[in-house]
Amino acid sequence: MSTAAIIPAAGLGLRLGGAEPKAFREVGGESLLVHAVRGLRAATAADLVCLVIAVPAGTEDIVAKLLDPYVGSATLQVVAGGTERTDSVRFALELVPEDGIDCILVHDAARSFVPVEVIERVVGAVRAGASAVVPVVPVTDTIKRIDSAGRVVDTPDRSALVAVQTPQGFEPGLLRRAHALEGAGVTDDAMLCERLGVTVQTVEGSDEAFKVTRPRDLILAESILAERRSL
Ligand code: C5P
Repeated sequence: MSTAAIIPAAGLGLRLGGAEPKAFREVGGESLLVHAVRGLRAATAADLVCLVIAVPAGTEDIVAKLLDPYVGSATLQVVAGGTERTDSVRFALELVPEDGIDCILVHDAARSFVPVEVIERVVGAVRAGASAVVPVVPVTDTIKRIDSAGRVVDTPDRSALVAVQTPQGFEPGLLRRAHALEGAGVTDDAMLCERLGVTVQTVEGSDEAFKVTRPRDLILAESILAERRSL
């Protein structure tokens, strides 16, 4: 049983601010990207045979050197990302070997502190036969659909809504077929699978798998890390 992981880390992180791309921002003295890689390795251990990371163009060599100590026996490839997240994932996917891999994880570098159990649940569900798996948490806000003028159109039943996290796990052939589709407006990989009519399975996510997006998220990240280091 072999797993490949793709980490889209090519976003600039404009909402976060700062002089460097988001994946290179540090929490507890290490970059978000290093935290993300370490988490994936901890959960998948010997099963992780291949890691492909999409980074801002021009940083490929630096990132390859930086991550080398963290990948264990997995092969590491670093590729320049694209304009949209879905382009970055597609470019990375092209480097994942076609043979010998039965699960591909796609994991945002910005969800650097996803607990090991969440990753294990995703991989476990793919291994158990689901072809597309996403971790989810309930939404706590009331969500409204609005029109282009900002007027409320309707209010979906909150009990039927969830927020979706990463890593998302896929049967490799399905992920390749999904990324062959046109990707405009696509914000996660499961969405492409839905367009193929495939049923996407959910597993329990975690509040700690939040996406570092705004400056305040760095404070939350520091506090999660400090708590883990004190255990
Ligand atoms: O922008 P957002 O926070 O939704 O990005 C989610 C993940 O996708 C981040 O890890 C980011 O680095 C990555 N990304 C990418 N290529 C882009 C845009 C975002 O790899 N063009």
